[in-house]
Amino acid sequence: MAIFYPGEMSHKDRHQLVLSGVSPRPIAFIGTQDADGVCNLSPYSFFNAFASNPPIVAIGPAIAARTGKVKDTWRNIMDTGECTISTVPYSIVHRMNITAGDYPPEVDEFVMAGLSKRASTIVAPPSVAESPYAMECKLMQNIELRRDIGGNGNIMLLEVVAFHVADSAMSGGKIDPRRLDHVARMGGNYYARTTDLFEAAQPLHACIGINELPEHVRTSPVLTGNDLARLAYVDVLPMLDGSYPQFDTSYRADSFEIELAAGNPDGALFVLLNSPQRHDRILLHRVAQMLIAQGRIADAWQTVLMEG
Ligand SMILES: Cc1cc2nc3c(=O)[nH]c(=O)nc-3n(C[C@H](O)[C@H](O)[C@H](O)COP(=O)(O)O)c2cc1C
Repeated sequence: MAIFYPGEMSHKDRHQLVLSGVSPRPIAFIGTQDADGVCNLSPYSFFNAFASNPPIVAIGPAIAARTGKVKDTWRNIMDTGECTISTVPYSIVHRMNITAGDYPPEVDEFVMAGLSKRASTIVAPPSVAESPYAMECKLMQNIELRRDIGGNGNIMLLEVVAFHVADSAMSGGKIDPRRLDHVARMGGNYYARTTDLFEAAQPLHACIGINELPEHVRTSPVLTGNDLARLAYVDVLPMLDGSYPQFDTSYRADSFEIELAAGNPDGALFVLLNSPQRHDRILLHRVAQMLIAQGRIADAWQTVLMEG
């Protein structure tokens, strides 16, 4: 493992180390206005949400390491106390990118990036109409970061005073995460796109934990750490109870491998249980692994308990 100490690194290397490891980061597409009402729009990925009552988000406008120049976004928010934050769907990622160029304060990046303005209801700056999710924000606090050592920035705590959500991003009155198509910033020039979503419900009860799994399960040569954790989500260690599998007399299957390759753990288990290898740990765990992947945790438990 390589170890890096920030004080011994160049600014560029340190910056990339932070950007690469703390990733993916959501992107705040920040709309501001100067005192004369000129609009400014720029992306900031030192951004996240920190509370929901009241809703608080934070952004990190840096002070340019080379020139010591402050960002227009930071100056406008300090002057007016207001901004909007729009999220960035894939459909506008390149238009977002061109707004990150270094333009004079009088340039309206909404116009130069061909993006439309959505009027706000409480603050003056507009948000990006092409974004499915936008927030109107008021400055709560600006925290200056180590100005004494130079080249550092700020954390701006912002209170969200209004949310705008596209109708098409919602189903049943709630946001459907699959409809946002947000992008996020990685290290280098890389971005991530939220097209590979999966669900992992936060446990509502105390889980038994991986350390409480039976030895033959915990030391499985087949089940991964994620598989074991999904078995360990239960609150009580299950017992073999005959609830699974149950086949009617017409059930037919005779190849373990064909059934597994076809994504049918029931068929594979049927073949296994009718063979001399019915207690083979590796084969049982391969079936259990597929059941886990299919979210059938109770059936996976019954399968791993058949080993004994
Ligand atoms: C995806 C992306 C994320 C960025 N995140 C930040 C950031 O968190 N902080 C920062 O100071 N600059 C960040 N930048 C650079 C600014 O967007 C850039 O300096 C821009 O010119 C600032 O514009 P402004 O002076 O109008 O605020 C980012 C650039 C991109 C492309």
